[in-house]
Amino acid sequence: EIPIRKICCIGAGYVGGPTCSVLALKCPDIQVTVVDRNELRINQWNSEKLPIYEPGLEEIVKQCRGKNLFFSTDMAPALKEADLIFISVNTPTKTFGLGKGRAADLKFVESCARLIAEVCDRSKIVVEKSTVPVRSAASIVNVLKANTKPGVSYQVLSNPEFLAEGTAVNDLTNPDRVLIGGEESEEGKKAIRALSWVYRHWVSADKIIEMNTWSSELSKLAANAFLAQRISSINAISAVCEATGADVSEVAKAIGLDSRLGPKFLQASVGWGGSCFQKDILNLVYISESLNLTSVAAYWQQVIDMNEYQKSRFGERIVQSMFNTITDKHIAILGFAFKKNTGDTRESPAIHVAKHLLEEGAFLHIFDPKVEKAQILLDLAQWDEESSISIHTDPYEAAKGTHALVVCTEWDQFTVTLTYDYQRMYDSMLKPAFVFDGRKILDHSALAKIGFHVETIGKRHGQGFQDHNWAGTNGI
Ligand code: NAI
Repeated sequence: EIPIRKICCIGAGYVGGPTCSVLALKCPDIQVTVVDRNELRINQWNSEKLPIYEPGLEEIVKQCRGKNLFFSTDMAPALKEADLIFISVNTPTKTFGLGKGRAADLKFVESCARLIAEVCDRSKIVVEKSTVPVRSAASIVNVLKANTKPGVSYQVLSNPEFLAEGTAVNDLTNPDRVLIGGEESEEGKKAIRALSWVYRHWVSADKIIEMNTWSSELSKLAANAFLAQRISSINAISAVCEATGADVSEVAKAIGLDSRLGPKFLQASVGWGGSCFQKDILNLVYISESLNLTSVAAYWQQVIDMNEYQKSRFGERIVQSMFNTITDKHIAILGFAFKKNTGDTRESPAIHVAKHLLEEGAFLHIFDPKVEKAQILLDLAQWDEESSISIHTDPYEAAKGTHALVVCTEWDQFTVTLTYDYQRMYDSMLKPAFVFDGRKILDHSALAKIGFHVETIGKRHGQGFQDHNWAGTNGI
């Protein structure tokens, strides 16, 4: 058996950081070092204010840091002494060259393999945790083999990560399953057993699933494609609802009660976002095309196209509802993160909506409980902060003097129970005051009672400003 006493993880991002923190918490007998070439990120992991926000994460880091959890930019020594190495670097969509705009860029994964081969002088298990195209492990093996020092050998495993941002600590602590893909050989099996032993510290054996490497790699892409597909499907239905008077919440409830389908991931919204769904589906599309499976590629591409359609539709609806013009109007955006409980804005639908409104000449007042100001300005870089965007740390300040509130993230504090004082916001706004609920989380009849003109996804809106059916409560 291969003893695992030290683990090194390359990539201190949204995956590497939380994964290794939970690993260190659950395995006091293992020393975990997370390395990254980004010095700022490592300094933040070693500081009071962590680089990412995840509920419950800070407590774990504080408990383990300096004991069996370390963050460092000094990669070579950490790699040298590790028995097992996780690669959890980013695998973005290629922005140029072959496969531009669709294929996954594996340059960071490849450079990790090269560095490992260059510095390591004893055999190791290398675990692919990043989401990668099918058969990427073969490329890692090739690079390692071609550069290996004498007497050293590597076993490469696939162990995709299924955590979701916003619930990462819980997902890592209670995973639905852990996939470990590896070679069928005796050496491969030994490596699988070693990684399995690590997880067995806190995950029951029936949840640790061994499979061939390619199945493991493809399962991650397929899982993300299915998840995004479900949201695109309900969003497609939401458009039909708006055109007919059906209510997507009622339809979703009816669908979800079918035990074959279940109620989760049926929430219609402004669209899905995040760093993974789009890039992973594009990757699946690219792989399918490369394999001459054009119908398969077209099928999955449609999941992305539907999401683009949904985001644009929402932006257009805002403009149309506000008398077809928002030029020089002030609009508050509530929520900028791609989902609640994270400060991450990668591929956030809020960016798409904000750009749409800016292009129409609006002035935006943006508030998000967790996203940093600098990040919002970066995401909307082509617009001038002074003239078209202001960023607020207080929702009431953001709402003041605006014509409309646009909810782009489902933060609990915005929600159904109306934690915020919407009457106070209403009183400070220009009239007629609009609310566009892109997440379907607000109490629409309560808002209508205050006097707001409410528009939401998947529910027919009123016929015009004169029509007091604004909240859409009566349908047709
Ligand atoms: P990230 O961008 O937050 O973190 C990646 C880190 O790797 C960065 O800090 C970067 O500086 C570092 N890095 C890149 N190349 C390096 C190199 N050669 N040497 C040292 N450090 C290097 O990315 P994130 O979100 O953690 O994703 C990582 C992988 O996990 C991706 O493949 C992603 O698809 C996958 N994944 C992401 C999930 C998420 O929710 N963010 C969930 C499940 C999988």
